[in-house]
Amino acid sequence: MKGNIVVGQSGGPTAVINSSVAGVYAAAKKLGVKKVYGMVHGIQGFLQDNLCDLDEYLADETGVELLKRTPSAFLGSCRFKMPKIEGHEEVYEKVFEIMEKHDIECLFYAGGNDSMDTVKMLSDYAAAHNKPQRFMGVPKTIDNDLPITDHCPGYGSAAKYIAASLKEIIRDNESFGVEKPTVCLVEIMGRHAGWLTAAAALAKGEDCSGVDAIYLPEVTFDVDKFMAKVKDLAATKHSVVIAVSEGVSLADGRFVCELADADKKVDAFGHKQLSGTAAYLASLVAAETGLKTRAVEFSTLQRAATHLASLTDINEAFQVGYDAVVAAEEGKTGMMITLDRNGDDPYQCGTSAYDIHAIANVERPVPAEWITEDGCGLNEGYEKYARPLIMGELQPLFVNGLPRHLVRK
Ligand code: F6P
Repeated sequence: MKGNIVVGQSGGPTAVINSSVAGVYAAAKKLGVKKVYGMVHGIQGFLQDNLCDLDEYLADETGVELLKRTPSAFLGSCRFKMPKIEGHEEVYEKVFEIMEKHDIECLFYAGGNDSMDTVKMLSDYAAAHNKPQRFMGVPKTIDNDLPITDHCPGYGSAAKYIAASLKEIIRDNESFGVEKPTVCLVEIMGRHAGWLTAAAALAKGEDCSGVDAIYLPEVTFDVDKFMAKVKDLAATKHSVVIAVSEGVSLADGRFVCELADADKKVDAFGHKQLSGTAAYLASLVAAETGLKTRAVEFSTLQRAATHLASLTDINEAFQVGYDAVVAAEEGKTGMMITLDRNGDDPYQCGTSAYDIHAIANVERPVPAEWITEDGCGLNEGYEKYARPLIMGELQPLFVNGLPRHLVRK
C-alpha cells in the first residue's frame, strides 16, 4: 500500500474491540504503511476531520499490550447512520475529501450490523463514482448476530463474563432460603438475538447447578407461562435464578420492558433502548407470589469486562483486524472479514473475506435446534459451539491494585 490507512470503531463497545485496532496497526506496520490514523468517534468524527495518529500510542510494545487490555472503544464510538446516497451526495463526498486530504487509501471499520451498513454504503459509492479508495469491515459485536461469520469478536468475552457472574450469583442466591426461595432475575443484553443470554447455559458445571430457565428473544414471551414456571420452580427449590434477554417480546410485538415503560428512547437506527425487563418481571413475581425477588441488570458491565476477557476472543479480534489489512493490500474492498471454524476438537478457526452486501443489516438468530423444547433452555449443540469461544485468559496489567488502561489524549 502506498498511501495511509484509517481505522474506526462504531456501535456498542466490547471488551476486545481495541484488540482489532491493534491488529490493524500491526499488519499495517508489517506491510510498511506510512501512517495509521484512528477515527475519533467513528465515521461521525471522521466527517469532522477528527483523527489521531496511532503511532503516538502504539509505536512501542507496551502501548499494544495495554490497548489489548483496555475495554470500550479506545478511539471513541458512534451510532451514526449514513444517509441514503440520493440527495445526500455531499456527505459521501466529504468522506472522500478527507480521505484524499490525508492520503488515505483504505478505511477499516470495526462494528456490528449497523456499522457494516456504513462499509457497504461507502464502498458502493466508491464503485459507482470510480473512486480508488477501499473499505473493509472488521466484525465486532457482543450480540454475535452478524451472518456468515461463525461468531463475532466481542461475544466470547461477554459470554465468559455472563457465565462467570451467573455462577457467582447462583452461589450467593443458594446461600439463603431454608424456608422460601429468593427469585433472582438476571437481564442480559442482545436486542433481537439471544446469543448473549444463551451464554447463561455455560454457567452449569461440576461446581454449579446452573440457571433454572433462560428466556431468549427468539421465543415469544408469555407472561402467564413464565409465572407458572416460576411458581413450579419455587415450589421445589430453595433458590431460583433466571436469565432473561433485554429483548424478549410478547406475541403482539411489544418488548416486555415496554410494559413497564412504553416510552422507550430510540437511536439513529430506530432501535429502542431496552432495559428494565428483569426489574419489571421481578416486581410481577413479588406481587403475585410474595416471594423475595432480586433483579440484576448486567448492562454495560457485560461488554466492558476486559479483566475477564477470553484470550481466544482477544486473539481472534486481533486477527480479524490484521487480516482486513492483508485483504485490502490484496486489493479487496466492500468486504468483511469472517471467522471460519474448521474444527471443534481441537477448536480451530481461520478467516476469509466476504461480500459486505450479504452481511450488512442482516441479523442472525440463535438456531431453533439449539433451543430446548420448552423454549427456556439451550441444549448441548449450543454448548459445543460456545465453550471454545470463552477459553483462555489474559492477565490485566495491575497498577495501584486496579487494571491499567490505555487512554487517548
Ligand atoms: O449492539 C450492542 C449492544 O450492546 C446491544 O446488545 C444493546 O442492546 C445495545 O448495544 C445497547 O446500546 P447502548 O449502549 O446505546 O445503550
